[in-house]
Amino acid sequence: MCSSHLIRHQLIAGGVVVVYIVLFILFFAALSLSRNIAEQTEAAMDKLVILFGTEILNIIPGRVSTEVDARLSFDKDASIAKAKKYIKMYEEAGIDKERILIKLASTWEGIQAAKVLESEYGIHCNLTLLFAFAQAVACAEAGVTLISPLAEFYVVWPSSIDQYHQMTKSLSSCRYVANTGTKSYAPTEDPGVVSVTKIYNYYKKFGYKTVVMGASFRNTGEILALAGCDLMTIGPKLLEELENSTTPVDQMLSEKSAKKANLDKITLDESAFRWELNEDPMATEKLSDGIRKFAVDSRKLETLLKELILKKK
Ligand SMILES: *[C@@H]1O[C@H](CO)[C@@H](O)[C@H](O)[C@H]1NC(C)=O
Ligand SMILES: *[C@@H]1O[C@H](CO)[C@@H](O)[C@H](O)[C@H]1NC(C)=O
Repeated sequence: MCSSHLIRHQLIAGGVVVVYIVLFILFFAALSLSRNIAEQTEAAMDKLVILFGTEILNIIPGRVSTEVDARLSFDKDASIAKAKKYIKMYEEAGIDKERILIKLASTWEGIQAAKVLESEYGIHCNLTLLFAFAQAVACAEAGVTLISPLAEFYVVWPSSIDQYHQMTKSLSSCRYVANTGTKSYAPTEDPGVVSVTKIYNYYKKFGYKTVVMGASFRNTGEILALAGCDLMTIGPKLLEELENSTTPVDQMLSEKSAKKANLDKITLDESAFRWELNEDPMATEKLSDGIRKFAVDSRKLETLLKELILKKK
């Protein structure tokens, strides 16, 4: 669904990496015979995450996002503890925390965990599964380093609660609509583009430092309609299409135009955040759905590692 998710799938699928995993498990299991299997598996998962991050950082100059297990999405303290542990492990591997972003889901708990990590520990966070304006506002107020609003999903989602109810007589038809929406929009009217533009304008107008990194684009039209956005995650195919194109690119987003945007500053406490998010059926379902999907991946990896550790014994 998003780039790091894809990369992770590719990495897990890669034969070389599997060999790497096996070697490391054998090594690690041997080291931790005293611990029970659940602890060993968790330690192995943590170690693997750091190994992947370290390998990627060896070949790229910039930063890497390392994700806290989605199953901690509603546990602020556990998310903080896990993030601190990752940063410590990276430091032990010789990697400075400036090169790491801790990726958390934009739940209330995830955002509050990020607030503590940023303000008390100087740990940078990347808040993802972000679909609603309320999530973006809460992230800005929490002082997070970066958000990655996902553009594509808006296009395939009913735009009002009434429409949503019409479409979702059953959960399966809801899925169907979500996955196969055929409505097409002019790029600047695309709901994902409209939403990311609003977030960008809001941040710049009110001087928030949080970086907006648009992600999950379906076509180059969406990307060009957001030209000027702080950062973007763009897959190889769309990058190549952009590279091949000779069409001039107009800057669509800028601090200057953001200052003129017709937006009022708002503040959200926990209940207001939850209310606003709940008022947005698309964001509510996509956030939950995203967490469920990430959790499936975590469980798969956990099972794989547990089997390897048990085999070793
Ligand atoms: C932040 O997370 C998003 C969503 O997974 C990803 O697309 C993006 O590349 C990450 N940003 C950075 C700077 O790692
Ligand atoms: C980009 O151009 C190259 C060379 O003309 C071509 O082989 C490739 O298929 C193009 N890629 C896309 C995504 O259009």
